Formats: sequence, C-alpha cells, structure tokens
Amino acid sequence: MAKKHEIVLIPGDGIGPEITRVSVEVIESTGVEIKWHEAYAGESALCEFGDSLPHETLAAIRKFKIALKGPLTTPVGGGYQSVNLRIRKALDLYANLRPIRKFPGIETPFDGIDIIIVRENTEDLYSGLEHIVVPGVVESLKIITERASRRIAKFAYSVAEKWGRKKVTAVHKANIMKLSDGLFLKTVREEAVKHPEIEFNELIVDNAAMQMVMNPSQFDILLTENLYGDIFSDLAAGLVGGLGLAPGANIGDEIAVFEAVHGSAPDIAGKNIANPIAITLAGALMLDWIGETEAANLIRKAIEAVLSEGKVKTRDLGGDASTTDMGRAIVQKVEELKKK
Ligand code: NAI
Repeated sequence: MAKKHEIVLIPGDGIGPEITRVSVEVIESTGVEIKWHEAYAGESALCEFGDSLPHETLAAIRKFKIALKGPLTTPVGGGYQSVNLRIRKALDLYANLRPIRKFPGIETPFDGIDIIIVRENTEDLYSGLEHIVVPGVVESLKIITERASRRIAKFAYSVAEKWGRKKVTAVHKANIMKLSDGLFLKTVREEAVKHPEIEFNELIVDNAAMQMVMNPSQFDILLTENLYGDIFSDLAAGLVGGLGLAPGANIGDEIAVFEAVHGSAPDIAGKNIANPIAITLAGALMLDWIGETEAANLIRKAIEAVLSEGKVKTRDLGGDASTTDMGRAIVQKVEELKKK
C-alpha cells in the first residue's frame, strides 16, 4: 500500500486560504495519500491566538518535517517581526529554492527561461539587527558568515547535480562590500572548484540585473545572498508572467517548508481572483521532495496543459477566471492525464 504522508498545512493570510485550498485539492487529485495537520501563523494567528507564530505551529513543523505554507502578512515599518523570517530562523531553513521558468501559453518577450534561484535564507541584511545610533541615524547590520556561505554554495551544487543543471552564477557586490560580499564570493569560489563539470561564473549584482532583463536564458542556477535573491526572484518571476507562477521552498537539513514566492496580496484577498498556480507548483516541489515525483510531474503537466490551452486564465495572466475555476481546470487535467 502507498505510504501516507503527514504534512503541516498553514493556510496563511490574505489570499493564502483561497490558494492553499486549491493546491491541496490538486495534490489530492493525484492520488497521493496525505494526512494534513492544519496549523496557524501570521496575522490570522495573531488575531485568533494572540501570537503570530504559536508554539504549536513550530512544534508541528518540527514533528512532521514538511509543511505547505500560504503567504504571511508582515506589517511594514513597524509591528511584529516577519513570521517568515522567524520560521526560517527557528527551523534553520537555510536554503531558499525558487525555480522560475516560462510556461507555454504565457506571452513574454523571452523564450527558454528556466532558472533556479538558490538564495541564502538566514543572514545578510535579513538578520533583523537594526538600531538607532542617534535620532536620525540608524544602522542595519549585514551579517555574512563563511559557514552560511559554504552551506548555501554546497546546496546549490547539490541541486545542480540532482537536477542535471550545467551552470552556477554567483551574484555579489564584492567590489564595494569587500569584506561581506568578498567572504561570500571567496567561499563560493572554493566550492565551485570542487565541481569542474559545472560551469561557474560570477556577476556583480547591478550587471546581473541588467543581464536578467536583456538575456535571461543565459542563467541556469543563480546563487545569491539573502537580499539579492529576494529581489531577483520577483524580477525573474516578472519575466515569466508574474508572481502567480513562481513557487519556492525553504529547506534545511531535515525540515522543508514550501510556499509561493509571492505574498498575501491584500489588494485582491477574499475576491476569489488570485492565481493559485504558484502555491500549487510549490505543492509539486514538495511532492518531489518527499519522493512522489510521478505525482509532482502530473501536476506540472496539468498546469502546462491548462496554460497552453489558454482557455482558463486568472486576471494576472490576462483572463477573467477565478481562483476556483483555475483549480477546477487543473484538477480536471490531472484526472485526464491519469487515464492516459
Ligand atoms: P505580494 O506578493 O503580496 O503582492 C504583489 C502584487 O502581486 C500585488 O499586486 C498582488 O495582487 C499581486 N499578486 C501576488 N500574488 C498573486 C497571485 N497569486 N495572483 C495574482 N496576483 C498576485 O507583495 P506585497 O504586496 O509586497 O506584500 C503583501 C504582504 O505579503 C506583506 O505583508 C509582505 O510582507 C507579505 N509577503 C509574504 C511573503 C511570504 O509569506 N512568503 C512573501 C512576500 C511578501
């Protein structure tokens, strides 16, 4: 009998509950057996339980090791600390994996975009170390360690080997931040020489940004510190049709949390118009991770088929289909593909 997986499900804030519901329906339509353990985090958890990251949620992720998470709202310029950052730090999910590729049926100026962004997830300017030096002057600390740089570089090469990728491009600003980005780059280079079969190159971040919009298909794996990776993921997502198509994962040595690259989209929350594809692709990535590759491929094929037919498109893709319409179309395709 097929193994029943136990997975934590965090619906999240804003559009989170609408899109995670679709993702779960699509995953279940593949026939993979999953027992979901629902847990709460973010603004919704703060309202309900008085804590944006309840102890029970972290305990559940530690216990079951895998979670599918909807986006979580973080107040801008004040309020509680980012719950996403707290989850990543508390569980040491040091690698942020964000595959971005062009799907058939999506109009973009470029073909052949198939990039995996591997972003260090625990330090850099996201260390949360900020203080007021004197009124009117603040300091934000950029932390880069050899340990974190080495393990993210090793992770990038393990992904390259596992998925047969040919090139790793390190993004940095070591010409200006000679110590911090210098250490990152030096460490990455040391790992790169251990993998002569995989091409290595390095680009200064501003040049990398220009190259990304002029000739994105040159990139294969992009290896970055935390902030650059965050910016490049949205940039790359924009080149393939937007955030509604970009999945991601936060991965540690034992635990992994899968999510969309996008946030809680408060501007469209509760309207049943959000695109559920990004979180559904994150679900497929999760299935890959737990060894359910066949089901993961089935989902990706179903999404590709729906997009290339072009009959069902959510608003962000230029159509007028609802979140639930898109979910239904993908489930129907999964059912059709299963019969073949
Ligand atoms: P956002 O990603 O939520 O939205 C940016 C734009 O993209 C908006 O116009 C939104 O309507 C659109 N969009 C996003 N996802 C979409 C989808 N699935 N379908 C159609 N359109 C979509 O970024 P924003 O507005 O900067 O952040 C909103 C909140 O989300 C903030 O509190 C932020 O901290 C949080 N956030 C959470 C993340 C996470 O949980 N991993 C990641 C990024 C932001």
